[in-house]
Amino acid sequence: MSQLQRKILFLTPFYFKDLPNAKELNKYLFKHIKAWKKAEPKGEVKTNSGFGWHSPTDMNQKKEYDPLTSELFKMAEECNKDYGVAPKLGLGNMWANVSPTYSYNKTHTHPNSLWSGVYYVKVPKNSGKLFLEDPRPGPNTYMPRRLTIFQNNYGEYVLTHLLKVE
Ligand SMILES: [Fe+2]
Repeated sequence: MSQLQRKILFLTPFYFKDLPNAKELNKYLFKHIKAWKKAEPKGEVKTNSGFGWHSPTDMNQKKEYDPLTSELFKMAEECNKDYGVAPKLGLGNMWANVSPTYSYNKTHTHPNSLWSGVYYVKVPKNSGKLFLEDPRPGPNTYMPRRLTIFQNNYGEYVLTHLLKVE
């Protein structure tokens, strides 16, 4: 009798890492983002909801954020290498969000992007979670929604919706 076998095709890669200098970098970024918010308190209305502040989207053009931007490029290069692609990398836009209690960012996609990223500078206790969905429309038509990360019988971690940000 033949046994049911399974192969996963069309994976969506998800990379993550802690930065070695995170403590100092976060302190530095917190100070600059706080000053930016104070200087431009209205910010922009994009995906931010509730009381969330959304900076202008030219963060990657600002010298003071070079320490973060350079880390992002390093990581994107690592992702390229691991994934076996070698496009010339650019950074279209980048912004900061400050999301106090009852704030969140609406579900959105990043069209025309090979990699998209999120970096957390500060995560107070009882903060919300990063919510990710499979960006491909096809699987969302057929696959039931999963609510937790789990390791399946093949030892794979199933990419899913709710990722707790530590
Ligand atoms: Fe985003």
